[in-house]
Amino acid sequence: MFRIGIVQNNPRFLKVRENIAKTLGLMEKGRADLWVLPEFFATGYNFKTKKEVLSVAESVSGGMTCGLLSSWAKKNKCAVVAGLPEKSGAKLYNSAVFVTGSSASIYRKTHLFGDEKKFFSPGNTGFWVKSFKNVKIGVMICFDWFFPESARTLALQGAQIIAHPANLVLHWAPEGMKIRSLENRVFAATSNRVGIERGLRYIGSSQVTSPKGEVLFRLSSMKVEMSVAAIDEKLAIQKNINKKNNLFKDRRPQFYA
Ligand code: ACM
Repeated sequence: MFRIGIVQNNPRFLKVRENIAKTLGLMEKGRADLWVLPEFFATGYNFKTKKEVLSVAESVSGGMTCGLLSSWAKKNKCAVVAGLPEKSGAKLYNSAVFVTGSSASIYRKTHLFGDEKKFFSPGNTGFWVKSFKNVKIGVMICFDWFFPESARTLALQGAQIIAHPANLVLHWAPEGMKIRSLENRVFAATSNRVGIERGLRYIGSSQVTSPKGEVLFRLSSMKVEMSVAAIDEKLAIQKNINKKNNLFKDRRPQFYA
């Protein structure tokens, strides 16, 4: 049994400390092995200038946001996946960190959405999977979901859970992620925000989906909330669809290029 917690927040634009404090306050209300927070959970998303991004972008090593999340993870013996604007040398990335009490890994968003392309470089980390408490966890960010290759790549690497920080504005993702879970036989945790930011409305509906394509919970479209799902993570190892079909063994990659 492994517990996945999601926070659905409504950050105040550029008020990083306040947003982190409120998010940690919501996490205090539950108990989970893995917490998934939204894309850009502490900064807001709808940047209009590079100066705004630079005012809140952080490096992962030594950065305030990662430091606070790592301490919280250590104290609570859990892992946290959270999105942030990352500064690395002269480049900016739309990144997610995966922190435990003792490690920090970075995933940089592969498929940038809309105006993100003005400020951020396309991710160069590729997709990876880490083990935490013997469960394999991969990360993708928001619009990555629209490219089935993202989730498939993580599943082929053995991911049992896909942590999916998001700032969703298109309405398809919650239903689409049921299919990403089903077609890869994995759990997926989509953590989205709510609210309207400089005219952009975010759709909430954060959720955890199962390898059978079920929605284990889905949050509201408007409210700041948190929830935790207890899963049997072993269900995501078994890739048989029936007695004669196996999701991975029956692939025909020679025809997929
Ligand atoms: C998105 O990728 N934030 C829509």
